[in-house]
Amino acid sequence: MRQKEVAAVILAAGAGTRMKSELPKVLHPVCGVPMLGHVLSAVGALGIRDTYVIVGHLRKQVGAYIKNFDRRAEAVTQWPPRGTGHALLQTRKQLRSYCGSVLVLCGDAPLIRKSSLESLIRTRHAKDASCVVLTFKLEDPTGYGRIVRDARGKVVRIVEQLNATPDEKAIREVNSGIYCFDAKALYKALDRVKPDPIKKEIYLTDAVGILAAEGGVEAIVTDTPEETLGVNTRKDLALVTKIRKTAILDRLMSAGVTIEDPATTFIGEGVKIGADTVIHPNTVIDGPAVIGRKCSIGPFAHIRAGVKLGDQVTVGNFVEVVRSTVGDRTLVKHLTYLGDTQVGSDTNIGAGTITANFDGKNKHRTVIGRGVKVGSGTVIVAPAALGDKAVTGAGAVVTRGTRVKPGQTVVGVPARPASKKKV
Ligand code: UD1
Ligand code: CA
Repeated sequence: MRQKEVAAVILAAGAGTRMKSELPKVLHPVCGVPMLGHVLSAVGALGIRDTYVIVGHLRKQVGAYIKNFDRRAEAVTQWPPRGTGHALLQTRKQLRSYCGSVLVLCGDAPLIRKSSLESLIRTRHAKDASCVVLTFKLEDPTGYGRIVRDARGKVVRIVEQLNATPDEKAIREVNSGIYCFDAKALYKALDRVKPDPIKKEIYLTDAVGILAAEGGVEAIVTDTPEETLGVNTRKDLALVTKIRKTAILDRLMSAGVTIEDPATTFIGEGVKIGADTVIHPNTVIDGPAVIGRKCSIGPFAHIRAGVKLGDQVTVGNFVEVVRSTVGDRTLVKHLTYLGDTQVGSDTNIGAGTITANFDGKNKHRTVIGRGVKVGSGTVIVAPAALGDKAVTGAGAVVTRGTRVKPGQTVVGVPARPASKKKV
C-alpha cells in the first residue's frame, strides 16, 4: 500500500444545532483535545499528507483551528451545506485529477482508530473496490443509514432512515459515515447523484449506491463500534469522553501506573507517567504533562498543562501545578499553587505555599533550588529565586525580584534574612 496515494476529507460543515453552543461542534474538547484534533491526528498517524476539512457553519473558528493544528491540512468551504455528497463535491477541484484513494471521515466522530482506517485502505486496494464502507451492528439502528445487502451478501445500497421501508428499517447493520473511495469513481458517481426527494440534500450514500450497482462496494464490519460514535449532543460528548478517558487510563495502567479510582480520575491526552507512580482519587491531570516513576499524586490534585515532574515526587491534597518542573524526591504535599516555577530535587514545599506568578498583566517565573525548605504559608511573588538549601519561615512573603542566597534563611513580611543571634 502506498500511503502517498491516499487523501483524506473530513466532513465538518454541519451546524451542530443540538449542541446548543457558540463553539463549533467539532471544536468541543474530548479529553482536552478538540474532536477535530483527534480526527486530524488519526489521519496524520497514517502518514496522509493531503487532508481537506469541509467547513461551513462557524468556519472562521474551525479554519483557524485547522491552520494552527497542521499547516498542511486545508479548510475547504461548503456554503450553504447541502448534504454529505455536496460536501465531497467541494473537493473536486483539489482531487479531480487525483488517482489514489479518498478516505472520508466525520469531524464529529473522534474515536476512529488508525487500524480501522488502515483496513479500509488495504481492503480497497486488495479488492480493487471503488468504495469500502465501515459499518457496525446496532440493537437499535434508529437514525443511521442502513446497509442493504443482496441475497449473496453484497452491498447494494445505503438507505437513510427517512427513506427506508419498514423491512429496511429492521436492518441492524448501519453506516458509520467513514469510507475509503477510489477518487475517480467517487467524483464520477457524485455527478450522477440527484438531490434526495425528502431533504433535498445531495447524499454521499447515494453515490455509494451508484458504485454498488457497478459491483464495486465492500463493507468492513468493525468489532469495536464505539470508535464510530458520532457526537450530536452534549450527552454524546460525555459518552465519547468517558470512552476515550477509559482508554487513556487503561493504557497507563498497563504501563505500570496505579490508578486507585479510575471513576474519579481524569487524565488528558498527551500525559506520560512512569511505572510505579500512584494516582490517588479525585485527581485531574491535563496534558501535555510528564510525570516520572514512583510518584504519588493526589488525592484532589490538579496537574495542568506543561508540567514535568521527576521521579519519587509527591504532589498531594489540594495542590495545583501548571507550567512547572519539579525535581526528583521533592514533596509538594498540601494546599499549594505552583505556577511557572522550576523546583530542584529534594526540596520540601510547605503546606499552603503559593507562587504569586501573575501581576495582573504578565506571568513571571519562580526558581526554587535543591534541598530548599519552604516554610508553611510562604508566598513567593514572582519573579523571585530561592538558592539551593535556602529556608523560608512560616508565613514569609518573598517579595518580587528577591534572590535568596544558597543556604540563607529568610523570615517575615517582607522576608528578610533571619538574625543569626539567639534572642
Ligand atoms: C450520515 C449518513 C448516514 C450515517 C451517519 C453516521 C448520509 C446521507 N448519511 O447521516 O448514512 O449512518 O452519517 O453518523 O451521509 N456534513 C457536512 N456538510 C453537509 C452535511 C453534513 O460537512 O452538508 C458533515 C457534518 O458536519 C457531519 C457529517 O457530515 O460531520 C455527517 O453529517 P450528518 O448530517 O450528521 O449526517 P447523518 O444524518 O448523521
Ligand atoms: Ca450525524
